[in-house]
Order: sequence, then structure tokens, then C-alpha cells
Amino acid sequence: MGYKGKFKVWRGDASGGDLKDFEVEINEGEVVLDIIHRLQATQAPDMACRWNCKAGKCGSCSAEINGKPRLMCMTRMSTFEQDETVTVTPLRTFPVIKDLVTDVGFNYAKAREVKSFTPPKDLKPGEYRMQQIDVERSQEFRKCIECYLCQNTCHAVRDHEENKESFAGPRYLMRVAELDMHPLDTADRKKAAQEEHGLGFCNITKCCTEVCPEHIHITDNALIPLKERVVDKKYDPLVWLGSKIRRRTSSDA
Ligand code: SF4
Ligand code: F3S
Ligand code: FES
Repeated sequence: MGYKGKFKVWRGDASGGDLKDFEVEINEGEVVLDIIHRLQATQAPDMACRWNCKAGKCGSCSAEINGKPRLMCMTRMSTFEQDETVTVTPLRTFPVIKDLVTDVGFNYAKAREVKSFTPPKDLKPGEYRMQQIDVERSQEFRKCIECYLCQNTCHAVRDHEENKESFAGPRYLMRVAELDMHPLDTADRKKAAQEEHGLGFCNITKCCTEVCPEHIHITDNALIPLKERVVDKKYDPLVWLGSKIRRRTSSDA
């Protein structure tokens, strides 16, 4: 059974904007993205929103719904009371372009900063067979749909614009962790995690994990293990001694 629902949607652009009230038809089985589309079709033809798949797979319809970072296409209207006003605003951490569309270029820049997979130079195709355990370790991270909800939520950038330059955010620290766990990767990911990608900014609040629509355990399975690997490398006396000996041997040679 359909009903008339109340919506508040943020309208505006980089120069400013405001919440606008709408009364709109809502039908059984609909999600928030359906309602935004209905508003575009009936009341606000110039309302901007980003979407592609309407199936929780492309990661483009991210927004804040009643203040919570969510995918609009995966947020069912049945999770709200019929007399509840549903508020939809753009992701807060990224600059607004128009209405619900933000400029997520920050994430592309951070992705480019992560050095690509670096196998040993002399390794030829077919010379290495991955162990199942190594495949499984990174499988979870590959489910990422690049929706940037985690990047939008982490307080290290959400409340601190000034940290954006030094902090890669949970999505890209997860990528660093994935590469560091790869048995064939030869790059020094631990040093880079600390010095280039700002791992130290993460104080394990786990807000990133809470909002991930793919239910990836970003904090427990990527960020904490990465922190542990960095600490092991830095403070384990055997690792320290090994690195000293290696350094001496190579400088002797
Ligand atoms: Fe989205 Fe999860 Fe990927 Fe972050 S890790 S971008 S929340 S899918
Ligand atoms: Fe931010 Fe997630 Fe760490 S929310 S502080 S990256 S655990
Ligand atoms: Fe693709 Fe929502 S439209 S994830």
C-alpha cells in the first residue's frame, strides 16, 4: 500500500544550499533512490544525484540518510516509520558539486599514491602458485565497491580537512595492507604505510567498518594487522638485528 511520505533533500552547489521539503508518493518495496528518482520525475527535474546499478554494486549512490552514510539504492523505505521525515544530504567529507553529487577526486588521488603490486623482477608468469591461505586473506578486501562511505566517515578526515594531504583513509590503507600481505610483493609497504599514507592517524575507532555496505572488516582484518606488522618490523629485536646485518653486508660488498 502506497502512502505520502515526507522528505528533506539538500539542494545547492559549491556556493551553498539548504534542505528543501518534499511530499512524495512511496510504494511498497521501494528504496530511497526510487524516491529521489520520483522527485526528479515529478517535482525537481534538475535535482542531481549519482547512480548506476541500483543493486549495491557500483558504489556511486552514496549519501547521508538521516545523518548516516548509506547507499541510497540499498536503503529500504520500510526501515522508516511512515510519518518519519527522511533527510538526504550529500557526503559531508567531499566538496559538493550539485545537490547530492560530490567531488570524490580525493579518493582517486589517494588510490594513485599507492605503489602498484611489485613482484620480484626475475619472476616469470607461471613460476609461482598462490597458496589458498594467501588468496583467502585478500579476498575479503577485493569485495570493495569503491563507494567511499568509509572514507567519508573516518573522523580523521571528516572533521579535519587539514589531514587530507597526509592520510590515505581506510579504503587505501586497506589496499596497502592487502599488498603487504601478498607473498610476492617486494615493496616496503610498512614504511610507506607510516610515512606516506598516514597509518598513524587511524586510532581504530572502527566507524569505517560500521558503514561498509560490503561488510568488510576493514579495521580488524586490514588496519589492525597492518599496524601490528609495522610495529613488528620496527620493534622486534630480531627483525631489527636482521636489518642491521643485511645493511652492513650490503655496504661491505
Ligand atoms: Fe565502500 Fe567498504 Fe570499499 Fe570503503 S571498503 S569504499 S565502505 S565498499
Ligand atoms: Fe578511521 Fe576506520 Fe581508523 S574510521 S580511525 S580508519 S578504524
Ligand atoms: Fe550502484 Fe547504488 S546505484 S550502488
